[in-house]
Amino acid sequence: MRVFLAGSTGVVGRRLLPLLIADGHHVTALTRRPERAAGLRAAGAEPVVADARDGRALAAAVRDSAPDVVVHQLTDLGRADLTANSELRRVGTRHLVNAALDAGARRIVAQSIAWAYAGGDGPAAEDTPLDRDAPEPRRSTVHGVAALEEAVGEAPEWVVLRYGMFHGPGTWFAPDGVRAGDARAGRLVAKGDVTSFVHVDDAAAAAVAALNWPTGAVNICDDHPAAAYEWMPAFCAAVGAPPPPVDRGAERPAWARGADNTRARTELGWVAHHPCWRDAFAIRPASR
Ligand SMILES: NC(=O)c1ccc[n+]([C@@H]2O[C@H](COP(=O)([O-])OP(=O)(O)OC[C@H]3O[C@@H](n4cnc5c(N)ncnc54)[C@H](OP(=O)(O)O)[C@@H]3O)[C@@H](O)[C@H]2O)c1
Repeated sequence: MRVFLAGSTGVVGRRLLPLLIADGHHVTALTRRPERAAGLRAAGAEPVVADARDGRALAAAVRDSAPDVVVHQLTDLGRADLTANSELRRVGTRHLVNAALDAGARRIVAQSIAWAYAGGDGPAAEDTPLDRDAPEPRRSTVHGVAALEEAVGEAPEWVVLRYGMFHGPGTWFAPDGVRAGDARAGRLVAKGDVTSFVHVDDAAAAAVAALNWPTGAVNICDDHPAAAYEWMPAFCAAVGAPPPPVDRGAERPAWARGADNTRARTELGWVAHHPCWRDAFAIRPASR
């Protein structure tokens, strides 16, 4: 297939690109940064330099690549700026979908999140409505996600990958990531809010599989949603931080419920090779 990969240099895109090339796809890889083009070419892709906020430039780039599929792995989280990321979800996605439709792409596969669901008990399945009535600042995040998902849904075929919280190399939860820094600075408190994690390698593998999945939204998360008072002490220990204060009595925000991966596992045959965050956050015994 001819694939246009937006977000080719991000934490998922870097893993996804070699998987697509190895499967024999022709990949056009988007970056804003000219200095990254040579690396993308060396990886086997056709690089293209454009900013997704520039609709005209993006339309030309997508049209020239004549894609069968557009893969949307764009985020603007390098500075952990959630406002900028919501803006990219709204504006960048709008431009990318317009460009994909104009270019005659058949399918769009897009990155979303698995923690935008409305509140309730237990992990949320895909038919749970999005939490559009949430107060700020969550409201802006949810509405950015909704705008992204609605735009992607205009494609003839589409898959929205609602990813859990990434862990693994290059993520916020790596030993050099921002959450590890928070942990070492004593900024984390372990309460009852529930998170579903996913290793970035599993996230990338799902994006490859989604080239052939039926239209719809799918949670891509590991098998063990966990309360912060479960995972956070393990994470802190793994990154050399002191144990976090634990507050088991704090009320769980209703939306912080984790996500159910049953559809991915049973309907689509997706397998998490990192089925539990616990293994990633386990303390490695010192070698003797
Ligand atoms: N589900 C999750 O937990 C989740 C999801 C996403 C990210 N994150 C976290 O966020 C951190 C940063 O993510 P990241 O490393 O993927 O980097 P990022 O800065 O969010 O960039 C991701 C990709 O989007 C591209 N991009 C961003 N803005 C663009 C624009 N205006 N036009 C064209 N392309 C644009 C970047 O390309 P260029 O910079 O090459 O132009 C890059 O390929 C990670 O550590 C990760 O843990 C978490």
